[in-house]
Amino acid sequence: MKAPLFLLFIPFFFLLLSGFSCSAGPDLNDDVLGLIVFKAGVQDPQSKLASWNEDDENSCGWAGVKCDRRTGLVVELTLDGLGLSGKIGRGLLQLRSLRTLSLSRNNFSGLLNPEITQLESLRTVDLSGNALSGPIALEFFGQCRSLRSVSLAGNRFSGQIPASVGDCLSLVSLNLSSNWLSGSLPLGIWSLYNLRNLDLSANFLAGEIPIGVNRLFNLREINLRRNRLSGRLPDDIGDCLLLRSLNLGENSFSGRLPETLQKLKLCSYLILGSNDLSGEVPTWLGEMQNLQSLDLSNNGFIGRVPDSIGSLRFLKTLNLSGNSLTGRFPESMADLTALTDLDFSKNSLVGSLPPWLFQFGLQKIILSRNNLNGSIKFSTASDQKIQILDLSANMIYGSIPLEIGDLQSLQFLNLSHNSFTSSIPETFGRLESLQLIDLENNSLTGRIPIQIGKCSSLTFLILSNNNLSGPIPPNLVNLTSLQMIDLSHNNLTGELPKRLSELPHLISFNISHNLFSGEIPTGNFFDHIPPSSLSENPSLCGSAINLSCHTVLPKPIVLNPNSSSSHSPQNSSVYPVNFNHKKIILSLSTLIAIGAAIIITVGVITIAVLNRCVRAPASRSAVALNISDGYFSQSPATDSNSGKLFIFSGGNAEFSTGAHTILNKDCELGRGGFGTVYKTVLSGGRLVAIKKLTVSSLVKSQEDFEREIKKIGKMKHPNLVALEGYYWTHSLQLLIYEFVPSGSLFKHLHESSESNSLSWQERFDIVIGVARSLAHLHQHKVIHYNLKSSNVLLDATGDPKVADYGLAKLLPKLDRYVLSSKIQSALGYMAPEFVCHTVKITEKCDVYGFGVLALEVLTGRKPVEYMEDDVLVLCDVIRGALDDGIVEDFMDVRLGGKFPVEEAVSIVKLALICTSQVPSNRPDMTDVVKILELIRCPGGSQGEELS
Ligand SMILES: *[C@@H]1O[C@H](CO)[C@@H](O)[C@H](O)[C@H]1NC(C)=O
Ligand SMILES: *[C@@H]1O[C@H](CO)[C@@H](O)[C@H](O)[C@H]1NC(C)=O
Ligand SMILES: *[C@@H]1O[C@H](CO)[C@@H](O)[C@H](O)[C@H]1NC(C)=O
Ligand SMILES: *[C@@H]1O[C@H](CO)[C@@H](O)[C@H](O)[C@H]1NC(C)=O
Ligand SMILES: *[C@@H]1O[C@H](CO)[C@@H](O)[C@H](O)[C@H]1NC(C)=O
Repeated sequence: MKAPLFLLFIPFFFLLLSGFSCSAGPDLNDDVLGLIVFKAGVQDPQSKLASWNEDDENSCGWAGVKCDRRTGLVVELTLDGLGLSGKIGRGLLQLRSLRTLSLSRNNFSGLLNPEITQLESLRTVDLSGNALSGPIALEFFGQCRSLRSVSLAGNRFSGQIPASVGDCLSLVSLNLSSNWLSGSLPLGIWSLYNLRNLDLSANFLAGEIPIGVNRLFNLREINLRRNRLSGRLPDDIGDCLLLRSLNLGENSFSGRLPETLQKLKLCSYLILGSNDLSGEVPTWLGEMQNLQSLDLSNNGFIGRVPDSIGSLRFLKTLNLSGNSLTGRFPESMADLTALTDLDFSKNSLVGSLPPWLFQFGLQKIILSRNNLNGSIKFSTASDQKIQILDLSANMIYGSIPLEIGDLQSLQFLNLSHNSFTSSIPETFGRLESLQLIDLENNSLTGRIPIQIGKCSSLTFLILSNNNLSGPIPPNLVNLTSLQMIDLSHNNLTGELPKRLSELPHLISFNISHNLFSGEIPTGNFFDHIPPSSLSENPSLCGSAINLSCHTVLPKPIVLNPNSSSSHSPQNSSVYPVNFNHKKIILSLSTLIAIGAAIIITVGVITIAVLNRCVRAPASRSAVALNISDGYFSQSPATDSNSGKLFIFSGGNAEFSTGAHTILNKDCELGRGGFGTVYKTVLSGGRLVAIKKLTVSSLVKSQEDFEREIKKIGKMKHPNLVALEGYYWTHSLQLLIYEFVPSGSLFKHLHESSESNSLSWQERFDIVIGVARSLAHLHQHKVIHYNLKSSNVLLDATGDPKVADYGLAKLLPKLDRYVLSSKIQSALGYMAPEFVCHTVKITEKCDVYGFGVLALEVLTGRKPVEYMEDDVLVLCDVIRGALDDGIVEDFMDVRLGGKFPVEEAVSIVKLALICTSQVPSNRPDMTDVVKILELIRCPGGSQGEELS
């Protein structure tokens, strides 16, 4: 056998190498000897070096070895990607004529012998993609002679880049990327005037780039991405006129873009993303005519996108995501016909979706988290290549167009958190590449189209928080890639397809808050499904929710829609969750099961019902209150009906000082559209506000009144003034509210002194608080109708509490005349549809009022101000100021300029959208809340600035 014999010889070879290497005998070729020694230190599991035989006269025929034809000496050793491991041994030092050494993509480890660079002829060393470690020795570069290209990329070298690198003046390419190198950039690097490619990316290098970069005038490509470099970008970078690619992304560079960059006319690749750069995106960027890829993402750029961007005719990818850019897309962008990838996500862009977006073959369109509105309009004739379409978290409305089915390459579709109102188009079925559909948080209606079962690549299906109805299409079980299905918070019905449990990759299945019925599938994923994913479906059964399908007593028996009034208030949830579920269709078998179950459980029910009856009276106090003595001028003295005081929360309550004093003029807090408000104390010492309704002649019957009042009483929210009880007689109706101590927003805005005016934070809290309260009301189908600053009270901590909500429903006739003349008397807050008889009045009228209120809070001005010979309407004034770019000047002077302009401008824009003339253009309050939350914390930076 050769191997043992060969091993026996190794010590002998070493002996030779150490002493007699230069005078090796004529039989033993130096190269053969060196390579055999090299091989001896290498593990070669795939026997790639089998052809290396020590008995050969020369090594020129060996795998990976190339010789000079004239001299017969080895000039090139290329062993890339052969799965070799072990040490790079000294044997290689024998290869006197070696010019190219390439051992990349193996598993060589240990230290790097610096003597390798002593080989006189060596030009190219590529040891990239191994597991070499330790510091790069000083001598490695110190003794290099005519070395032109060095790559040590993708190893584990640590420590500093040796300063001696500056001695290797012949270097044309230096690649130390993806190691663990630290310390600062050695100055010597900037004297390597032959250098064309410098790649030090993905290390831990720190410090600044010194002036002097311009000495590298041969530089074509510089990549310092993903280090810890800081300071300003070097001003002289623009003197490296041959530069084609500049990548400084993922560092901590700060300051503005140096103007000299515009001299880089050959540069096609400019990557500066994820730094701390600031200022506006400069207009001169349009001078960098050759740019194909521009990445300024995740920086602090502000202002508008310059028009000049349209002159970058070769631009393919444009990433400005994660900045604070404002304004609209410049129209000039329609000229960027080479564009394939566009990412403007996480900015504050406004305006509608530009038409060119769907015209010239873009592949990635990412515009999430802006303030864009308008609707999607695909141009028909174009050849669509879109792979990623992410328009999430904007204010886009209208329908999802049928043409979506023409986007044959579509893989990711995210339209979530917008205001789409259509149904889900059947044309989805044509999208065989589609992996993700996220349409959550819109107002989509109709059924989930059965055609979705043809989206054979579908992995994520997220349709939660819409108004979808109908069943789960049974062919969903064909989509074997599905991992996540979220259909929660819809109105979906029917049974769950049994075979869902056969989906092999399912890891999440949420159908909570729907109207599903029947048995939950079993097996695989469904054996471990968290019950919360199934909750709030009144007629589901199965082991997953501990409800046996045989003995389950379907809810209809207790599902009396009016039964909520017999729940004790503590556990009747504030939300009338199940009221909608009146129609429950029972199959024959279920009926039989119920029949059996009734007999078994009738006893239990009887006891439960009895218990409830016993508890009911205690749950609400009815305290007789004698105010029949004609104390009130409006109430006729003959009214002998002594009324009842109802306190929702129960307990004994009485007006502590007796009837005579409760509605005393001295205790008057204010007068509103619905009546006068008094402050008084209940018997427990509790302070309350009492509203005496003055619209009594309009008020409905006692029954109607109580029903509406109970509904309002359920509207518990931290930003709503809680209705605690009521009092009814024919001639007198009182509403008992929680007492809110700090007066109305109107007073704070318009009647307070400069010294105790509201701070920016307080104003923001008020705007967001009011928005939340309205969102809450709308979720429960209550329209306020009468939002204005005098109806917003501030509690002791300055949090807003909205009052007077829902009272319009007490009026027997909710017509325009009543609403606009009696209630919406506050000029300026009234939505235009009140005077337009063809438009239905919806909760969008509150959105309008909110927009006006938000502007009022920010500017400290009243919605309408009368000047000498002019009437100023706040919305119009601010809209004009925004167009002129001077909206900051209109912020309340009492803020003393102490507010983050970005936030202020964003809120103003949102408020102006809320005050759109057309109701459907106004966003929903839930969206408004989300947008405000986004405005408040874009990385938290603005907030810190203030505090
Ligand atoms: C590389 O070598 C190390 C030991 O030196 C070994 O643990 C590792 O599994 C090897 N990796 C590969 C991909 O061969
Ligand atoms: C540096 O080496 C890495 C790994 O081999 C490679 O991906 C990269 O393109 C190289 N850089 C340059 C500038 O050639
Ligand atoms: C844009 O940049 C961000 C962050 O730098 C990155 O997450 C995103 O993937 C980029 N967009 C595209 C389309 O490449
Ligand atoms: C569900 O349907 C009922 C009646 O069909 C409707 O009142 C309710 O608003 C719907 N809920 C949702 C979330 O769409
Ligand atoms: C999809 O599912 C339906 C019923 O669940 C079945 O009839 C049909 O053959 C399936 N199609 C494919 C392509 O698997």
